[in-house]
Amino acid sequence: MDIKNRKTVIAGNWKMNKTPTEAKALIAELVPMVSKASHCDVVVCVPYVDLSAVLEACKGTNIKVGAQNMHFEKSGAYTGEISAQMLTEIGVTHVIIGHSERRQYFGETDESVNKKVKVALEYSLIPIVCVGETLTQREQGITNELVGLQTKIAFMGISAEDAKKCIVAYEPVWAIGTGKTATSEQANEVNGAIRSTLQALYGETAKNITIQYGGSMNAQNAAELLSKTDVDGGLIGGASLKAADFVEIINAANQ
Ligand code: PGA
Repeated sequence: MDIKNRKTVIAGNWKMNKTPTEAKALIAELVPMVSKASHCDVVVCVPYVDLSAVLEACKGTNIKVGAQNMHFEKSGAYTGEISAQMLTEIGVTHVIIGHSERRQYFGETDESVNKKVKVALEYSLIPIVCVGETLTQREQGITNELVGLQTKIAFMGISAEDAKKCIVAYEPVWAIGTGKTATSEQANEVNGAIRSTLQALYGETAKNITIQYGGSMNAQNAAELLSKTDVDGGLIGGASLKAADFVEIINAANQ
């Protein structure tokens, strides 16, 4: 990992798990365990209704708090939606954008991802932009081109200055929640392809952009994945719901 140029970021994606009470308990467990983790940024992306409780529990700690989605409009008649400004005002710093579950179940497209990235940046939120191929697309041999296109569209109209504030997460759809992980070589290859796309858009700035891997990263495989040159952290679902597992991944980023 090129620690000179970019930050390692270990982010938990709790998905639709943990009530506010359960969330507080998990953070209380996590806080002392990660208090010395200065080698990487630690983020937890929690359900909307948990945000207040988690922000309160993370106050004065080294854990940053993110949301899992937001709308691209600033306000208006969008029943059930949450705006970037609402997140910023309560102290949220990160937001996952374009997770494959949102693309698959909620109609998110590359275009809506691009709109959301722009609005997130406007309100000083750090977008964690997710890209990744399905198993069919991998078998068709189009992975690098596909994630390249997803990345290109996500970053349309974004300046180099803003691009370096973003995080990209390579998340092969076939590895999410399945227990199947990309090999460290596969992860590094695709992360490298994403960096090449960013390099074509932004030149040397691409070296400063954190590119995570996500998809069944766990306490056992994290060290190997994180040892790769283009893997600058992880976006972790299942294994972020248990303090001990999440902490092992954070510690693995230090090796
Ligand atoms: P997983 O989820 O670690 O449970 O595979 C990763 C993600 O969806 O971000």
